[in-house]
Amino acid sequence: MSQPKYYGLNELREMFLHFFETKGHLRLPSFSLIPQNDASLLLINSGMAPMKPFFTGEQEPPRHRVTTCQKCIRTGDIENIGHTARHGTYFEMLGNFSFGDYFKTEAIHWAWEFLTSPEWVGLDPNRLYPSVFAGNETTPADDEAFRIWHEEIGIPKDRIFKFGKEDNFWEHGSGPCGPCSEIYYDRGEKYGCGKPGCTVGCDCDRYMEVWNIVFSQFDNDGEGHYTELKQKNIDTGMGLERLACVMQNVGNLFEVDTVQNIMKHISSIAGAHYGENAKADISLRVITDHIRSTTFMVGDGVVPSNEGRGYVLRRLLRRAARHGRLLGIHHPFLYQVCETVIAENAFAYPELVEKKDYIIKVLKVEEERFSKTIDQGMEILTGIMDKISADQINQAVFSGEDAFRLYDTFGFPIDLTKEILAERGLPIDEEGFFRLMDEQKKRARDARKDVSGWDTDEMLAVEGKAEFIGYEKTRGQGKILALLDEDGKPVDSLTEGMKATVVLDSTPFYAESGGQVGDSGAIARGKSIFRVKDCKKSPTGQFLHLGVMKSGLMNVGDTVKSVVDEERRMAIMRNHTACHLLQAALRQVLGTHVQQAGSMVDEHRCRFDFTHFSAMTPDEIARTE
Ligand code: SER
Repeated sequence: MSQPKYYGLNELREMFLHFFETKGHLRLPSFSLIPQNDASLLLINSGMAPMKPFFTGEQEPPRHRVTTCQKCIRTGDIENIGHTARHGTYFEMLGNFSFGDYFKTEAIHWAWEFLTSPEWVGLDPNRLYPSVFAGNETTPADDEAFRIWHEEIGIPKDRIFKFGKEDNFWEHGSGPCGPCSEIYYDRGEKYGCGKPGCTVGCDCDRYMEVWNIVFSQFDNDGEGHYTELKQKNIDTGMGLERLACVMQNVGNLFEVDTVQNIMKHISSIAGAHYGENAKADISLRVITDHIRSTTFMVGDGVVPSNEGRGYVLRRLLRRAARHGRLLGIHHPFLYQVCETVIAENAFAYPELVEKKDYIIKVLKVEEERFSKTIDQGMEILTGIMDKISADQINQAVFSGEDAFRLYDTFGFPIDLTKEILAERGLPIDEEGFFRLMDEQKKRARDARKDVSGWDTDEMLAVEGKAEFIGYEKTRGQGKILALLDEDGKPVDSLTEGMKATVVLDSTPFYAESGGQVGDSGAIARGKSIFRVKDCKKSPTGQFLHLGVMKSGLMNVGDTVKSVVDEERRMAIMRNHTACHLLQAALRQVLGTHVQQAGSMVDEHRCRFDFTHFSAMTPDEIARTE
């Protein structure tokens, strides 16, 4: 059996895409890692994921044959990454796709041609083994694929494997799915487990799955109900790093040329070399993998945060930073390594080069932030772990309070704390942690609430709801539903000089909300005038006109006229518009991660709060202006 010819990872990517161009496919750039209109995924995890609407026929594809190399992230078992050499969170998936165009025959023939033709990667056909779907209660065995492999490609029957749903039916959450046919490459005995019965499908590293053709013909509603798609499709996935492992005859993904260059950069900073020490190897793998995924995530606009994708990013970065400490690196360094990630991927992903400064800055800021607290946090964590281990205190479990303090004060994502504890075999009171998290969230929510003091029982008893007419008019007429004195106690009438609140059944006064101040103006009945200084909404939805009785008398039940200070209202509206313009400009200059976190608009100015990873530079400010 012959050995494969060496190709670099970048070369292989190009060969694949070019091969499928010669078969009439349109080459598209990788889609963003952030799924668009797909709530079922946090991050894009396969080549087909961004193209679901093309498979279902919801959207017309730019061509019915497409080929891509897709950036993918899978975060299923982050805590195991590094401990094995096989897995990573980041990988590239090459694919050829047919949307209602060709089907099984072409897909199988082309896979074989690319893998075995000396014009392309030229693998030894004797080392390749296909598998097909064996069938189950709901879906019949794929005899058609079996026939094509046997009769058309000429693979002897005993070299074609039949597997069940676990291996040969591809689906990920909801959406297009179907039976698949995989191709395995025999890497030779040296990668094998040596156990009797070790063959295709064995868990060891000898038979490596390099190619997966999904005959995408069903739609899964996410609850296990399958319906036939209108069209039959092909969804092929080939792990680029895996093929590179085969072609470069290296043990695992971390030894592939471009990935190894990233690791070497880390080694040079740490002064630790791969393969010398098993513990250091774990850290080197963790950092190598995580710096790849995080560089790409930031490049696609994810910013570190405590939720969703932002949390995944933060968790990966902080996990990598901790492993940096384990290697003896005590300063921010990930932002330096990310330059190698960008350099190694510059050709295939020009967006990384374009956003290089931005990516470096995001990583650096996040790293610096964590590096201020990590040592202290680790010290505390280690101290508590030692105490628990030594059973000096009556606490066999790491408490939710301690985990929360590590999170809140020292920036340790709960998953990181959990992982460190697991390394020492210590349990944690996770429920306690989440209870404290919820309490903190509630406190923050309450602090944001308008505590105007008007949610008294008396207020709740006010009958009738105000109609708001202020979008069309600045003047109106209404009936007084209730009057409250300075202390919020209901009164029947107001006399001159009283500070009070007037509740109307219909009002043109805008009540403070969403950061925009309430209107001012006057409420009048003949010569009796109540000067409105502010308008707020009660928790029960009433419009509360706050002000002072200037002259005359007013009673509950009176019909009154209301007039908004129009000039001031117009100024507030202009500033409100300015706030939206400011947001749009910030998104252009800093990126689409800019989201409103709060705002304040009055007649003099507007303030827009947003989160960004660092202070704006004078140049960014000037451009935004
Ligand atoms: N969707 C399949 C996979 O991810 C083939 O592209 O393996």
